[in-house]
Amino acid sequence: MDQFDVISHIEHEHSHLTRLFADIDRAFRQVNQDGVQASEDALSTVSEDLEHAMEEMLDHFAEEEQVLFAHIEERFPEMESEIVALVQAHELICDRTRWLQQLLNADRSKLESEMAKALEIIHQLADEVAKHTEAESRVYTTALSQMSASERRELLENLQHH
Ligand SMILES: [Fe+2]
Ligand SMILES: [Fe+2]
Repeated sequence: MDQFDVISHIEHEHSHLTRLFADIDRAFRQVNQDGVQASEDALSTVSEDLEHAMEEMLDHFAEEEQVLFAHIEERFPEMESEIVALVQAHELICDRTRWLQQLLNADRSKLESEMAKALEIIHQLADEVAKHTEAESRVYTTALSQMSASERRELLENLQHH
């Protein structure tokens, strides 16, 4: 058992989430080009995609906060401030995602008037998801490299059974 088993489990989820948000960003820009009124089908797809991304993201964040962060904080108290920053990033990302969900559920005139802000938010969101996963991978690599093989094995098992 190698540390990369835990890392590869997480990185698989990270690349999946990063891709989902990049796709939503792209879809939003297309809606902006085509106009809100001509994009009803595209908007319902974006809305479903965003809901799906949010669900997957909440599962992933819960897995991290309850299994990985909890274990790392206990074992390496000196990493606490880094963990706190990662949790704050989770909250910020979720807040922005909820704002977009609300906008997509409101009437279309609201979306039209908020389109510039929506484009900015989704673009920031895609960027934050990508940057957060990079920062987090560095924390995981640092922590895992200091654990024994059996400790890493146990951590992976806890992740998979979460
Ligand atoms: Fe995270
Ligand atoms: Fe993550």
